[in-house]
Amino acid sequence: MSEPISAEKKVFIHTFGCQMNEYDSAKIRAKLGTDGFTATQDPGDADLILLNTCSIRDKAEQKMHSALGEYRRMKKNGQPVTIGIAGCVAQQEGDALLKRYSDLDLVFGPDGVPHVNQLVREAMDGKRVLDTEFLDLETYPFVTEVETVDDQQVGAFVTIQKGCDNKCTFCIVPTTRGAEASRSSSQIVDEVKALVDQGVVEITLIGQNVNSYGLKTPGEKTFAELLYAVSDVEGVERIRYTTSHPRDMGDDVVQAYRDLPKLSSYLHLPVQSGNNRILRRMKRYYKRERFLEICAALKDARPDLVMTTDFIVGFPGETEEQFEDTMTLLDEVGFIGSYSFKYSPRPGTPALRLKDPLVPNDVAGARLTRLQNRQRELSSAWTRGHEGKVVDVLVEGWSRHDPGVICGRTDTNLMVNFPGDLSLVRKTVPVRVTRGFTHTARGERV
Ligand code: 5AD
Ligand code: SF4
Repeated sequence: MSEPISAEKKVFIHTFGCQMNEYDSAKIRAKLGTDGFTATQDPGDADLILLNTCSIRDKAEQKMHSALGEYRRMKKNGQPVTIGIAGCVAQQEGDALLKRYSDLDLVFGPDGVPHVNQLVREAMDGKRVLDTEFLDLETYPFVTEVETVDDQQVGAFVTIQKGCDNKCTFCIVPTTRGAEASRSSSQIVDEVKALVDQGVVEITLIGQNVNSYGLKTPGEKTFAELLYAVSDVEGVERIRYTTSHPRDMGDDVVQAYRDLPKLSSYLHLPVQSGNNRILRRMKRYYKRERFLEICAALKDARPDLVMTTDFIVGFPGETEEQFEDTMTLLDEVGFIGSYSFKYSPRPGTPALRLKDPLVPNDVAGARLTRLQNRQRELSSAWTRGHEGKVVDVLVEGWSRHDPGVICGRTDTNLMVNFPGDLSLVRKTVPVRVTRGFTHTARGERV
């Protein structure tokens, strides 16, 4: 092992994509902190710039290339900076990135995070470093450094697994993040306790497919059992999790919605499509009917549960009628929000081998617009439905736009803005909703 890097180095991390990447970036900051790095918000001031990248859709990947262009220009103009690419694009492209960009110093995939210090040291010593090895699943070294929580922070993510063993045919994640491994539940509970000790009250358990947690580790808790264990931690007030898969939504998780008041009444459950043929070709392993059954069971267990989802439109071969099935599912479930995307062909994914014709871009675009318009109507109807009612809001901090206005979320994840001050942060207060918009509401304290 070489000496720690001399003190007072600054790292700037540009994070793209999902909450897994956000989490990895936080862990990278925490780990580099032990080598004397401090985080900076200004790339122009950094000794090390890392791009933590996402390859889920082509657009995400393009964004990273244009940002990289900016940082390379700064280096060309004389800033003595080490530049690295981490995350899913790094895993996917590997050496090709080093070949393409001669001034790039470091490329490492998601499994490089646990030994990022070593990689950064070598890169700062002038080596060009590549690490896209996957680590052994049985001994996967989940990073245990807990990020320092600032004294206003309300919620924190806790990773419970890495990778994904599903093979959804459109998805690049199993390639970039590798096979699934579950972190030990005792380590998870310890991290939750450490966060709560620092004042955090809301815990979001994250993973690519959280409800398959523990199933492949003999003796480990199931996901439902983990929910009970986290709920038992004193000081935890609200538990969320993302992302779960309909295929693994068991009765025990449904039961947890009856038993655990701390479990949020908001669930993000990606359905992707409302058509059975498309679902089969996506290899999602459930039918529309089963998905509706799950929704009904969940709402029976927790009557005020609200749901959001992900949709892909224009999957290869999707006909107009099949897309209609997605439109009707949206209404039938009454999702209060959704992320929807045009299908984007990804390198190495099984969907590339499907014989079905690609849906023309303008057709997919028109479908997406229809879906999003209808979603907007449903979202704002739900938000406006709160007008005049009093809701409990867990306060997060200043609202982004108005001075003197603070914001927070309900248990159902509705963002409410209302006049107040920072003494209310981390407290739950009753607020009367005066006006609902598409995604947020306004209110006043009662
Ligand atoms: N094209 C479009 N959307 C995709 N997603 C994943 N892969 C693709 C792809 N190739 C979407 C899915 C998933 C979300 C995170 O991103 O809806 O749930
Ligand atoms: Fe991708 Fe499917 Fe795994 Fe989600 S569950 S990460 S969509 S393969």
